Amino acid sequence: MKYIIFNWKSYLNLKQTLSLSKTISNLPKSKKYKLISSPNNFFTLTSNKFFPKNILASQNFDNHGLGASTGSLDISHLVENKIMYSILGHSEVRSNYDENDSYVREKLNLCLKNNITPIVCIGESKGVYKSKITKVFLKSQVNKIFDKSINYKEVLLAYEPLWSIGTGLTPELEEIQEISSYLSEILKNYSFKKINILYGGSVNLTNISDILNLQNVNGVLVGSASTKMDFINYFK
Ligand code: PGA
Repeated sequence: MKYIIFNWKSYLNLKQTLSLSKTISNLPKSKKYKLISSPNNFFTLTSNKFFPKNILASQNFDNHGLGASTGSLDISHLVENKIMYSILGHSEVRSNYDENDSYVREKLNLCLKNNITPIVCIGESKGVYKSKITKVFLKSQVNKIFDKSINYKEVLLAYEPLWSIGTGLTPELEEIQEISSYLSEILKNYSFKKINILYGGSVNLTNISDILNLQNVNGVLVGSASTKMDFINYFK
């Protein structure tokens, strides 16, 4: 079973969101793919109301708690509305809101307490990639986010090179394979009920099947391509 996350970011209006959601809800049941849609947070509940069978992820939440926090999205709002997944530490959230690995770690722990399955994003910059220190960088991210003394439930870890997101560039297949194997190796130092490694960054109709065929890659996190109907129909 491969996880396919559709991250619609802020690309779509409500009508477009519902139209893609409808297509997803009409896809035949598949044992090959688990499709999870992540509409803009503002549209998640409407999508859930019209297409309750679709599995949804929040694009983010924060840890300010319930109360006087204008603009916040609390994890209890996800729980209350049965949104079972959340993306954490996406590079756009990291850069737009100065989110760092220790904040991602706090939110990961909130997910654990609240039975929300986290989709944790990590990835190196172009500079790190060019300096050939990607593994060292990713290991330090993993160490900052996960705690050896915690027994995690299900976690999805998305390897998303920052230089690949939204650029049309991807690492070579062999590199994705090598990094996924490396991540699954270092994750053995931690305790998970279930851990799956996904790849994200410029996944599209042309490269998706090769990426999904890689050993140790258990799925993909897809941004702009997933806003197109022909991409959704790939899963027919
Ligand atoms: P992209 O985005 O597919 O548009 O590169 C991926 C992501 O941001 O997760």
